[in-house]
Amino acid sequence: MAKLRLRDRPERRLLLGLPRGMNQVDRRLVDVFRQLVAGEAPWPLLLHGPVGSGKTRAALCLADFADTAAYHSVDSLSDFTMQRQPGDVAAEWERLAGKALVILDELAQRRTNELTYSVVKRMLDEREFHAGNIAIYITNLEPPALAEIFDDRIFSRLTAGTVFPLDGPDRRHAR
Ligand SMILES: Nc1ncnc2c1ncn2[C@@H]1O[C@H](COP(=O)(O)OP(=O)(O)OP(=O)(O)O)[C@@H](O)[C@H]1O
Ligand SMILES: [Mg+2]
Repeated sequence: MAKLRLRDRPERRLLLGLPRGMNQVDRRLVDVFRQLVAGEAPWPLLLHGPVGSGKTRAALCLADFADTAAYHSVDSLSDFTMQRQPGDVAAEWERLAGKALVILDELAQRRTNELTYSVVKRMLDEREFHAGNIAIYITNLEPPALAEIFDDRIFSRLTAGTVFPLDGPDRRHAR
């Protein structure tokens, strides 16, 4: 099984405006991270759960330990694809292919269209073919709803590895 390349010490390089700590990640999920890193659980990780349960920050905490990592929401990648020249888009996919870990967040947040479908499908295939499937996919939806919103082919790829439900209250309102 593919192994995530790690750095000696965690370092925050993505989304610097989002403070986070692994000590604030659900213990069971930290355990799953350990298994993934050790090659004892299969990639990719599909992280699903309600709004504010801590999915994005948890994924970023693992990315901080990765040798190299990248983050996109489906919308940011779709917008990039729409707004940039083909050469820039090709370069972005190449950049992503070279990353040890990629996070694709907010799957099926907005209504899915042809563009978001193709961006998600491409990401899934690129990670599978070039990066040992080492990726974290994040959604608020229950996995079966992903089959409805996308289709069986994307559902199959998203759920091919480790699926983790991160439940709990909306932590944005916890204070
Ligand atoms: N590991 C963490 N370290 C620090 N704060 C955290 C962590 N996890 C969650 N929080 C707190 O919980 C809030 C929600 O976390 P996060 O944005 O990761 O949730 P989410 O599940 O991605 O939400 P959404 O579904 O809306 O995208 C954060 O704003 C932060 O205050
Ligand atoms: Mg989030």
